[in-house]
Amino acid sequence: MKADVLLGLQWGDEGKGKVVDVLAPRYDVIARFQGGPNAGHTLEFEGIKHVLHTIPSGIFHPGKINIIGNGVVIDPVIFKKEIDALTKMGVDIRKNLFISRKAHLILPTHRMLDAASELSKGKEKIGSTLKGIGPSYMDKTGRNGLRIGDIEHPDFQKRYDGLVAKHNELLTFHNFNKSLADFEAGWSEGIELIKTMNLIDSEYEINSLLDKGMSVLAEGAQGSLLDIDFGSYPFVTSSNTVTAGTCTGLGIAPSRIGEVYGIFKAYCTRVGSGPFPTEQDNDIGELIRKSGNEFGATTGRPRRCGWLDLPALKYTIMLNGVTKLIMTKPDVLSGFKTIRVCTGYIYDGHEIDRMPYDIVHNEVKPVYKEMAGWTLPDDGVHDMNQLPAELCDYINFIEKELNVPVVIVSVGPDRKETLARDPEFA
Ligand code: GDP
Ligand code: IMO
Ligand code: MG
Repeated sequence: MKADVLLGLQWGDEGKGKVVDVLAPRYDVIARFQGGPNAGHTLEFEGIKHVLHTIPSGIFHPGKINIIGNGVVIDPVIFKKEIDALTKMGVDIRKNLFISRKAHLILPTHRMLDAASELSKGKEKIGSTLKGIGPSYMDKTGRNGLRIGDIEHPDFQKRYDGLVAKHNELLTFHNFNKSLADFEAGWSEGIELIKTMNLIDSEYEINSLLDKGMSVLAEGAQGSLLDIDFGSYPFVTSSNTVTAGTCTGLGIAPSRIGEVYGIFKAYCTRVGSGPFPTEQDNDIGELIRKSGNEFGATTGRPRRCGWLDLPALKYTIMLNGVTKLIMTKPDVLSGFKTIRVCTGYIYDGHEIDRMPYDIVHNEVKPVYKEMAGWTLPDDGVHDMNQLPAELCDYINFIEKELNVPVVIVSVGPDRKETLARDPEFA
């Protein structure tokens, strides 16, 4: 079998959690391959709304194997809170959650370093979620990090103390004087809990599951435009959020990748700093934010909102090798008389339809096409045939521009508010 991938094509929060939960019944295994608790993946079903940060979005489906891959960074403090909340809801994580021994740990001092680094940047700050993601991946690539498997070793405490001492030197350099004890609250309890969980050599497990004919869905976190290599650097996260990250974050060879589902909102949002060509820092953006409830699932920060950006989508479809598209949240634009979609950029006096090297210091001005808006019925949309003609035109236009089929349209946060545009997904 091959592993399918589902990932976000914009700046995150495209609705990955919802759609992974919807697709989970079709798979045996759901696996996270990168990122950490900077992610906030929201699932809604049977009147429950739940946000996952580290745990794959297949966790509510009994009998599905959920794997946290080696490419993920785990904060034991946040992780324990997630596990406790799931256990309270009756989810038996001992049966269906497995953690790679090679996943790296986020230490309390990584969170402190994240805060210190952001403070030192002042106005230039990244707008990090402050979950310690950057410092933890820095220690991974700097070959200083601690991994989940290390907690089983007798000298773990000594290694932890050694790394904390190193971090303390850096914190002194930054004049960061907050108390370590405050950041360490819950650390030991988290570590003790992880010791009791299913720790695996996930690369062997996943390949062996695929060999046995089991189906795997890899769940992306963040969005492709936050990728460390291809996003608007330095306003990015610290992992490869694109399809290639699945190979390194799970130990799957490129030849084992099957379908790549690219998920995008009918408009765009971004949390944190960095360029956002189609941003509507005005009444339109405010309206979208209100109607789409665009506030960060992890930090609660208001999300910046703007029109759909086709050059950006073309770029991320290319990077990811997207084979099928999924659109979310067109319901949020219901009631707009007209809407806009960016078809190109004016850059250096010319119209282009690609993402230039540097949009941090050089401005790109969007070229828009205006289209008729749509209004959805008050009691929701339950069938593809109920979609207003204007919304169908919008989807057809996007599909034609992007040259990839839109197979699913999500029209609300609930599991049930999902329409199959391709009968294969009915
Ligand atoms: P993720 O990080 O990609 O999993 O997305 P988030 O959970 O951070 O943000 C998506 C938000 O939109 C969540 O509050 C979802 O419940 C909600 N959502 C997902 N799909 C839809 C949709 O089609 N329509 C509406 N109105 N909300 C949606
Ligand atoms: P999900 O998986 C949206 C953003 C932060 C910041 C930048 C770097 O829910 O889509 P970091 O904490 O990684 O150092 O922050 O990336 N960011 C996200 N934005 N959704 C996310 O995850 C994000 N994870 C990080 O706001 O701009
Ligand atoms: Mg999110």
